[in-house]
Amino acid sequence: MNVLVVGGAGFIGSHMVKQLGRSGCRVTTLDNLSNGHRDAVLYGDFVQGDLADKDLLAQLIQPGRFDAVMHFASFIQVGESVQEPAKYYENNVANTLRLLEAMRLAGVNRFVFSSTAATFGQPLYSPIDEKHPQQPINPYGRSKWMVEQILDDFDHAYGLKSVCLRYFNAAGADPEVQLGERHEPETHLIPLVLQVASGKKPHISVFGRDYDTPDGTCVRDYVHVADLCDAHRLALESLIHGADSQQYNLGNGNGYSVQEVIETARRVTGQTISTVDAPRRDGDPDRLVADATQAKKVLGWQPQWTSLDEIVAHAWAWEKSLPQ
Ligand code: UFG
Repeated sequence: MNVLVVGGAGFIGSHMVKQLGRSGCRVTTLDNLSNGHRDAVLYGDFVQGDLADKDLLAQLIQPGRFDAVMHFASFIQVGESVQEPAKYYENNVANTLRLLEAMRLAGVNRFVFSSTAATFGQPLYSPIDEKHPQQPINPYGRSKWMVEQILDDFDHAYGLKSVCLRYFNAAGADPEVQLGERHEPETHLIPLVLQVASGKKPHISVFGRDYDTPDGTCVRDYVHVADLCDAHRLALESLIHGADSQQYNLGNGNGYSVQEVIETARRVTGQTISTVDAPRRDGDPDRLVADATQAKKVLGWQPQWTSLDEIVAHAWAWEKSLPQ
């Protein structure tokens, strides 16, 4: 099978390329390296290029060359999306449309899309299943939701079959410690907490202690990057076997507070981790927990690394492997 992985040099994409490569797929990565890293692409061919480049897309996505496309390339910072919505709509929506158009012209009709819990907005109930209304509250969430709707229309009009995977909080690292999170700047809780543990940062800011949660800090559902990749592989297989377009929520169904994450990191690393209380961050819902029953039932998804200790331990092994 020939798979094009767009954004294959990024955090989740690079893990996907490794899994596909290992399983014998022929994989091609397209990445502009704006956030990704060339040395994170461990298998297959690499093409450096941008989705805005229509000619490149036409040249790359030739009829018959790819059986499917997986799309990981997007901007992901909620706060930045509020400040710079144009950047988000241009990259996450317009560029995705260019990709879909190139696929359509080449007759590639299987697509696995990285969507997000941010398409739901403020949760009306918890855990969040696929029937939960989608009312995103920031441009990032809206950009992903727009693509989900475009995909509905492309299925209806052109027969393009897609699976949208709505990640909750992607975390962890490659259990073999070859890959992990390397965002610059890093904004995610677990890698930041581990940078404090390794002495790179003096403290972790806790954004809000007055949420409506048991300890007052925000609750999230952390899901291991390797398990997310398993879900992508199963989604791809479902499309190859003729499944209809679908959307799935991906999380473990366990909510952990920011405070619990910090305590877990103290336990796993054995290091002191200083905290500083800080104001709430704009746009943070108090609780985001997934109901992933559908992915388990329909795709047969069985996450392997469900405990927060394991997720943090893998991220810690990765952090320690980086230059200190
Ligand atoms: N947090 C802190 N201090 C920090 C960083 C984060 O207290 O220095 C808190 C946040 O306020 C939040 C929790 O830790 O309550 C998790 O924050 P992350 O930034 O790690 O993750 P988010 O939940 O904000 O974001 C994730 C994805 C986004 C996606 C979002 C969906 O990374 O791409 O879930 O809601 F949009």
